[in-house]
Amino acid sequence: MNYSALSTDPIKQKSDCLVVGVVEGKSQSAVWTELDQQCKGVLGKLLSSGDISSKLAATSWFYPQEGGVKRLLFVGLGKEKELSEAGFRKAAKSAMQSLSKSGAGNAVVALSSLTLNALKAGWATEQLVIALESACYIFDNMKSEKATPTKVSQVKVAGDKRDKSAIEAAIAKAGAVAKGMNLTKDLGNLPGNVCTPDYLAKQAKALAKEYKSLKAEALGEKELKELGMGSFLSVSAGSDEPARLIVIEYKGGDDKQKPHVLVGKGITFDSGGISLKPGEGMDEMKYDMCGAASVFGTLLALAEMKAPVNVVGVIAAAENMPSGKATKPGDIVTTMSGQTVEILNTDAEGRLVLCDALTYCERFKPETVVDIATLTGACIIALGNHATGLLANDDKLADALLAAGESTGDRAWRLPLWDEYQTQLDSNFADMQNIGGRPAGTITAACFLSRFTKKYRWAHLDIAGVAWTSGKDKGASGRPVPLLTEYLLGQVKG
Ligand code: BES
Ligand code: MN
Ligand code: ZN
Repeated sequence: MNYSALSTDPIKQKSDCLVVGVVEGKSQSAVWTELDQQCKGVLGKLLSSGDISSKLAATSWFYPQEGGVKRLLFVGLGKEKELSEAGFRKAAKSAMQSLSKSGAGNAVVALSSLTLNALKAGWATEQLVIALESACYIFDNMKSEKATPTKVSQVKVAGDKRDKSAIEAAIAKAGAVAKGMNLTKDLGNLPGNVCTPDYLAKQAKALAKEYKSLKAEALGEKELKELGMGSFLSVSAGSDEPARLIVIEYKGGDDKQKPHVLVGKGITFDSGGISLKPGEGMDEMKYDMCGAASVFGTLLALAEMKAPVNVVGVIAAAENMPSGKATKPGDIVTTMSGQTVEILNTDAEGRLVLCDALTYCERFKPETVVDIATLTGACIIALGNHATGLLANDDKLADALLAAGESTGDRAWRLPLWDEYQTQLDSNFADMQNIGGRPAGTITAACFLSRFTKKYRWAHLDIAGVAWTSGKDKGASGRPVPLLTEYLLGQVKG
C-alpha cells in the first residue's frame, strides 16, 4: 500500500473514495457540510432518515453525482463528545474493512472529520494505517487457489498543513509496525509441520539477509547441551525436530547503549508431551510459537523504521511431543542456572524452555528483558481475549509496558508477583517443581520464571489469550507487536 499526506482540500482531490466521519446530532464537520452543499442537501436527508448512520463504527456508501470523488464512505463516530481512543479505533477498523472490500483503487481519508476531541493527527493516522493493513491481510500460502487481494493500492491522509510531518512520520512508523505484524501472523498461521524450530532458525537468517542492521545465529542441541540447558532440552527430547536457540541482534543505537532483550516462547507445536492434551482444538497449539513470532515481527518493525535502539531477540524454539524418548512426569532436570526442576506435568513446557533462555540473556548485560509467551490457559480464564497478562520484577518497566499497550490499543494488565505465591512451586525432590496447582496459574508460571531473572529488570507477557483468534475467523493477531514496538521506541535515549 502506498500512503501519503495531503494538505489540500480532500474534496477537491480526484479519488475513487473519500472517507468521512459522521457524528450524531446537527453539527457536522466542515468536509461534510461542503459535501452536503455539493449534493444539494441529499446527505442531510439521508442522515436524518437514518440511511447514513452515525452510530459508532457503522459505515454507509454514497455515490455523488457532482465533483471528482467517485464514492463517499461515511463512518459513524457516535456522539461527538463521547468519541474515545478506543471508539476511534473501532470506527477506523470498520471503515478500513469496508474500504478494503470495495471497488476503490485509491482513497482519501478526511482526517479532520475523524479526529474529534483533540485526538492527535499522527496517532490517528497510525491507527488508520494499521487498521487498513490488518483488513488487507490474507494468509493463503497453503491454498492452491489464491484469494483475491484488495483493490486499494493508494491512500492519501488529508489533514491540516501543520500536521503534515506528524502524518508522514505516522505513516512510516505504522507501515513498519504493520509489516512486522504481518510477519508475526504469517509465522503463527503456518502449520506445525512447516514451521518447525529449524524453519524459524532459517527465517531468522533470511531476515538478517534482508536487513543489514540485523544479525542472526542459531544454536543447535549440541551447543544447548554444552551450555547446560537441561531444562530446555527436556522439552524437545520427545520430538524428532531438534530444538534451536535463535539469537537475532538489531543494532540501531550506539555501542554504549545496553540492549533491550526480547525472549520469545517458540513451541512450534505443543501436544502436551506425555501429559498429552485433549484432542479438541489441539491444532491451535501450532500457535504456541506466537511469542517467538512477535519477537520476529518487532525486530522487523524496528529495522524497517531504523529505530535508534539496540535490541536482542532470543527465541527458544522446540516441539513438545510424546515418544519413548520424551520427558516423563517426575523426571528431574538441571537448568543452565544450576537450579533443579521436578517436571510434574510435561504440558507446562513453556517455562522449561524460557528459564534457560532467560539465563542465557545475562551475557548481554541487558537494560531490560521482556519475555513473550503463550504460557498459560489460566491467563485466558483471568483476562479473556482482550488483555495480555503482565508480571514484572520492576515497576518502572511494568508501567512503561502498560502505557505502550494503552496508547496502541494493544493492552496489557498487570498481575501480582508476590512472594506468597512462590511456595506453590515447592518440590520434595528438586529445587522447584514446574507446576503450582490450579490457583493463580498465570502467577505461579511467572513465579517460576522469576527465579531465573534475578540479575536484571524483567517483565513477562502472557499472550495466551490475545495471540490468535479461534473459531470461524481463526488466525494469528499480530499482537503484541504494537505494544513491544511502542515500548522500545520509548526507550530511545535523548
Ligand atoms: N501453551 C500452553 C498454554 C495455552 C493453552 C495457551 C491454551 C493458549 C491456549 C501451555 O504450554 C500449557 O499447556 N500450559 C498448561 C500449564 C499447566 C499444565 C500448569 C495450561 O495452561 O494448562
Ligand atoms: Mn503446554
Ligand atoms: Zn505451551
